[in-house]
Amino acid sequence: MSPKYNSPSYRDLILGVNNKVPLISGKSVTAINFDNAATTPPFKSVIQDIIDFSPWYSSIHRGEGYKSQLSTKLYEDSRNFVRKFVNSNIDNTVIYVKNSTEAFNKLSNLLYDPYKKGVILTTDMEHHSNDLPWRDKFIVDYITVDADGRLSLDDLEAKLNKYNEYIILVTITGASNITGYKNPIYDIAKLVHKFGSKLLVDGAQLVPHAPFIMSNKNCEYNIDFLIFSAHKMYAPFGIGVLIGPKSILDKCMPDLVGGGTVDIVTHDFIKWNESPERHEAGSPNVIGSIALVSAIKALNKIGMYNVESIEKSLTNYAISKLRNIPNLEIYCDTSNDIDRVSIIPFNICGIHHALVAKILSYEWGISVRSGCFCAQPYVVKLLNISSEFLIERIKNPALYHPGMVRISFGLYNTFSEIDILVNALNTISLRRGYYIHKYENMKKTIFDV
Ligand SMILES: Cc1ncc(COP(=O)(O)O)c(C=O)c1O
Repeated sequence: MSPKYNSPSYRDLILGVNNKVPLISGKSVTAINFDNAATTPPFKSVIQDIIDFSPWYSSIHRGEGYKSQLSTKLYEDSRNFVRKFVNSNIDNTVIYVKNSTEAFNKLSNLLYDPYKKGVILTTDMEHHSNDLPWRDKFIVDYITVDADGRLSLDDLEAKLNKYNEYIILVTITGASNITGYKNPIYDIAKLVHKFGSKLLVDGAQLVPHAPFIMSNKNCEYNIDFLIFSAHKMYAPFGIGVLIGPKSILDKCMPDLVGGGTVDIVTHDFIKWNESPERHEAGSPNVIGSIALVSAIKALNKIGMYNVESIEKSLTNYAISKLRNIPNLEIYCDTSNDIDRVSIIPFNICGIHHALVAKILSYEWGISVRSGCFCAQPYVVKLLNISSEFLIERIKNPALYHPGMVRISFGLYNTFSEIDILVNALNTISLRRGYYIHKYENMKKTIFDV
């Protein structure tokens, strides 16, 4: 029996949770979404706030009309909501971008100095977005993970010692998008600061799921830079956040230039604006900022400690059930006391991860993700395969690509949805042969069947 505590009121906050989706059988069922780590559905209040604001939407910053002034005020005020949400002091500036990926690319451009080849320390457990943008501009080294995929703090310290004053930035995910492990970011901050370096936390999987404290009473523990995406916290409309010290960002040359970034321009003179305007070229995403503030208000109303605790119960419950499914291998430490967000990676032995994901969708209406989740180096470690094997497999379309199935919960998921998943996985595991045969040669999408 699943625990009965799940509050229907949280489901009521989310748009689309009762949508019916078609199955391969021709029947339809209420969709179950366990792919929240990729993108969450929107809060109803976010969509309502956008509808309410839209008649007032206008050009911002230099318009004198009432609507322009209102739009400008809401856009500028939104930065304070963001700062407050992550408990940042006012020395940090909030720069809006499209998503986390753009934020990493932007910061890598801003910190790049062609005359100084510095070191970026990142880790083996990063999303490609916190790896690739650094590669062409810096010497990049990777802090290793253990056999369970957990970050080695000993290796972090060894690498801080090794590179010392050459380190430009240490950049580490707050929570893994594959194993869900939270990294001990405050201990890491203390260590990084001891070496005189700065810490960037990839908050894409952490900020939507747990309280975040960027500026602490004891500044040794401060997180210097933070990045996250609104679409992973119930607020679509294409906005992401880069927060960091104004004192540093004001010294960086903008990587994208044009309207908004400058104070004075003549044919032979430019005076750049201060940040954040300096780093927000072109017309800003006002609607995105309204959506983000709306999502922050909704999350604050629930309380981030509640969000964390609801999702922890769902995760522990799911792990306890998944453990009993025959032939199912989980690729992370499954103890209850592990500090994690609500993400679980697994495979069913003898059946390809992409096929498991397809069967869950076509036969049960359950959405999950499969593959390498934009973190191929980490998947290589977790699957205990070689990089050469991965390359050879991915290069050859005729061969199955290595990967996993990933489930990830949002605050609106329920124990009974997990029961349906567990029943489905038990069936898939026990009837592997039947399903492999049924879906053999099936290249169709759900729209073709
Ligand atoms: C840990 C992590 N970092 C960065 C990203 C990139 O986020 P976005 O797709 O919003 O740019 C993701 C996306 O899944 C992620 O999980």
